[in-house]
Amino acid sequence: MKQVTLIPGDGIGPEITEAVKTIFNAANVPVTWDEENAGQTTFDAIGELIPSTLIASLNKNKVALKGPITTPVGKGFKSVNVQLRQMFDLYSNVRPAKTTPGVNTRFENVNSVLFRENTEGLYSGLEIFDERLQIADSISRVTREGCEKIVRAAFEYATRHGCKRVTAVHKANILKHAGALFLSVFREIAKDYPDLQADDIIIDNMCMQLVVKPEQFDVIVTTNLFGDILSDLCAGLVGGLGVVAGANIGDEMAIFEAVHGSAPDIAGKGIANPTALLRSAIMMLHHLDLKDEANRIEAALEATLANKEECTGDLGGKANTMQFAQNIIAKL
Ligand code: NAI
Repeated sequence: MKQVTLIPGDGIGPEITEAVKTIFNAANVPVTWDEENAGQTTFDAIGELIPSTLIASLNKNKVALKGPITTPVGKGFKSVNVQLRQMFDLYSNVRPAKTTPGVNTRFENVNSVLFRENTEGLYSGLEIFDERLQIADSISRVTREGCEKIVRAAFEYATRHGCKRVTAVHKANILKHAGALFLSVFREIAKDYPDLQADDIIIDNMCMQLVVKPEQFDVIVTTNLFGDILSDLCAGLVGGLGVVAGANIGDEMAIFEAVHGSAPDIAGKGIANPTALLRSAIMMLHHLDLKDEANRIEAALEATLANKEECTGDLGGKANTMQFAQNIIAKL
């Protein structure tokens, strides 16, 4: 049995978490859950966004599954997601985007994985505001070490998964330091992987290429802000945030998460789509080397998604969250 920290999160978080737990139970997955919450609900209850009991659980288990978290609006509240990534040096944000039969999209045959640097760049927290002059500076700090870690993670993934091409996305023509450092590290590391096609593309061209011919890309690697935006763009190509998985991975720890938000507009109604969290949980099973369980659940999910009637409302179906989960279980 492997123990995993489970963070249900806010809004629809507990509902989609329950669905994933039910499916794991039915599939006899050898995982036990160590449940600790974070976010708005926790803050309202105990005055802390990330309780020390959660940090202890993460340090102990090293693997977590996380639902969406609401960051309270207002000064002084730093995003829980950003804090967890920085606290545990979860430098790779990994976002697969693959078209699924039955899920309506404008494109077919999209199958890419985006590696976003998760702790540096414009999210380093280096911001200065001159009140008198009304000038704001947000500093993009990019380090050689940070670039090396994310680029190597992308090439290693490509090698392990039999991918053919790794594409770096940058703006080195304008960002003469931050962009150039990332690009030169990419070109250096690419030499260690002669069997892979390595190329690079400027962010603006990449946006155009992705909405014209997305099936040409395989593994994509980029810095924090570009990755934040591109990963949602890629999600849109394959059916939206409700159906894509995400993971934050470091050398010591990995947190798998639903990439959509807490959906306050539908929270408590029992109609949320658990696919994004389930797909993240499947990624987690691969990470834990539970490949048979991962493949069984994935096959049952794909078979369910192929039949619209069995899906939740956002995918054009009539099922609620738990009926959708039961439809998956019936196919295990
Ligand atoms: P959102 O993703 O929660 O909702 C956008 C729209 O998508 C809503 O109409 C919602 O009903 C729908 N939706 C989202 N997930 C769904 C699902 N699984 N099934 C069916 N419909 C779904 O984005 P929004 O409204 O901008 O953010 C709400 C809260 O979530 C905010 O407090 C924000 O800070 C937080 N958030 C947290 C994230 C995380 O923890 N990873 C990511 C994005 C937002």
